[in-house]
Amino acid sequence: MCGIVGYIGKRQAYDVLIKGLKRLEYRGYDSAGIALLSDNNLNVYKTKGKVSDLEAFAQGKDIGGTMGIAHTRWATHGEPNQVNAHPHYSQSERIALIHNGIIENYSELKEGLLMHGFTFQSQTDTEVLVQLIEYVKNEHAVDLATAVQLALNEVVGAYAIAVIDLDNPDVIVAARKGSPLIIGIGDDEYFLASDATPIVEYTNKVIYLDEEEIASLDLINGLHVKTISNVEKTPQIKQLEMTISQLEKSGYPHFMLKEIFEQPRTLTDCMRGRVNISENNISIAGIIDHKDKFLNAKRIIISACGTSWHAGLIGKYVIEEFTRIPVEVEYSSEFRYRNPVIDRDDVVMVISQSGETADTLAAAQLAKSKGAFLFGICNVVGSSIARTTHAGCYTHVGPEIGVASTKAFTAQVTVLTMIALVLGKEKGTISEEMYLSILKEMSRIPEKIISILKQDNLIAELSKIFTYAQHFIYLGRGFNYPVALEGALKLKEISYIHAEGYPAAEMKHGPIALISQEMPVVVIAPMGGVVYDKVVSNIQEVKARKGKIIAVVSENDRTVREMADHVITIPETDECLYPILTSIPLQLLAYHIAVIKGCDVDQPRNLAKSVTVE
Ligand code: M6R
Repeated sequence: MCGIVGYIGKRQAYDVLIKGLKRLEYRGYDSAGIALLSDNNLNVYKTKGKVSDLEAFAQGKDIGGTMGIAHTRWATHGEPNQVNAHPHYSQSERIALIHNGIIENYSELKEGLLMHGFTFQSQTDTEVLVQLIEYVKNEHAVDLATAVQLALNEVVGAYAIAVIDLDNPDVIVAARKGSPLIIGIGDDEYFLASDATPIVEYTNKVIYLDEEEIASLDLINGLHVKTISNVEKTPQIKQLEMTISQLEKSGYPHFMLKEIFEQPRTLTDCMRGRVNISENNISIAGIIDHKDKFLNAKRIIISACGTSWHAGLIGKYVIEEFTRIPVEVEYSSEFRYRNPVIDRDDVVMVISQSGETADTLAAAQLAKSKGAFLFGICNVVGSSIARTTHAGCYTHVGPEIGVASTKAFTAQVTVLTMIALVLGKEKGTISEEMYLSILKEMSRIPEKIISILKQDNLIAELSKIFTYAQHFIYLGRGFNYPVALEGALKLKEISYIHAEGYPAAEMKHGPIALISQEMPVVVIAPMGGVVYDKVVSNIQEVKARKGKIIAVVSENDRTVREMADHVITIPETDECLYPILTSIPLQLLAYHIAVIKGCDVDQPRNLAKSVTVE
């Protein structure tokens, strides 16, 4: 979590940094701060709240200077107040530092520094690091880059940092371990940021800093990269594929709504070059190139967090259905610490929109260290998880900025379905007829989503009825059971209404006790498949206890329509593709309820988009 941005060059740094912080605000928004270096002054301005609060705070102050660093915080150590906000000064106020990550041995380091006469203003782990850098710099009489390198050798934990120093006014020193950092290369100027969004409007030449690397962005001596063990590296310059229009709301009131409405296009992009309707074929290069690994796998383990975990659960259903390869789905945070059984015949799939989730990255590293073949499904190109895996495929939905994941989820499910079909065909575990029928249906998914989105007004009206609710239950079965979990997660994270998702038949084993006329129950009940009739019975059980049924049903459905209090329809499709469609009305329902309740939809409280701490 936390977003960091830096600039050195000929522009006014303040403008570049504030704009950059706004792009990174999805990563944390507890406090914001900026450090600017000009005319032998190192000015630090910081405040509790959002970037707009920082702008107000900086008004009328000296914001000149062509180099600086800035930070938007998601609090870990120390409450979100002005003192704990970044940047942090060193004792002499000659060095300033911003940090994304956690210094685990900070109290031990602090004790040592206290003995050398250092004092501390904040409760943060970060302040310890900047003081340590100053101590090392003075003690060893070295330049800033060397001081950072030596200090980082003392540090246990995760970091992406940027440091500036009055004694080295032509250089920003940056380093990373466990948290992302990208450097942009312009003409006689450098940018750095937690992701590419603050950089894209100035240059498309970037370097993804690797683990334990330190970069000196030096206006006089150029860009230099070395490891924290002091080994020189040759940086690899990559081209950014992002465009600036992908980062704007394009007339929508919130990024979340824009991203929901983008799904017909994002899924077209996701399937482009993969689902080939004229050749009756689905192909995913990352799978085909390594098909033996999959076909010989004893099992597939999927590891992910949050919404990506829900996509993984749908992946289990489709991959087992069409390939007969056993699939286990793990929470990365549990998997990484419970000494799981992994062997060389396993394929481990990690799923992550950001590609930076700390627990999923650690799960990936663990699986790799045990010799498993590691496959990634990520959205962010060049992200840490994408670079850790042996192979993978991108979801290609463009930047997802709303904290609540929407378009990334439907694309993850689409990718997993394509993988299941590719492997099923290779293995001969899916009939030609079924393969062709699903292939054809997949190509129609974007137009079917367009028709669901036309019900936006209806769902907005429906949402007004339920803003009273303190609790919601979501029920689904089969492929749509994970959709129930995902619908509940969407609602709770952006509207702060407590919601639980269950496999519909599990309700009678406990949750049914919660049903009363106050309780809205969202039932995902598309027609087709063996579970439809069972869900109908589950709806009867809720009705008998006066629960309020909101049903997501197929357009031709008559049975559930007659039983439900409210109905949202979706076009018919193949059973395994329903999750892509049924999740869309649930995204809209959560969105409208949150908007009506006056919640901050794109930046819900206590959350951040990329969870880069464990
Ligand atoms: O970037 P990732 O897909 O690895 O993120 C995983 C979760 O943090 C994420 O899906 C989270 O649950 C979302 N806020 C849900 O909308």
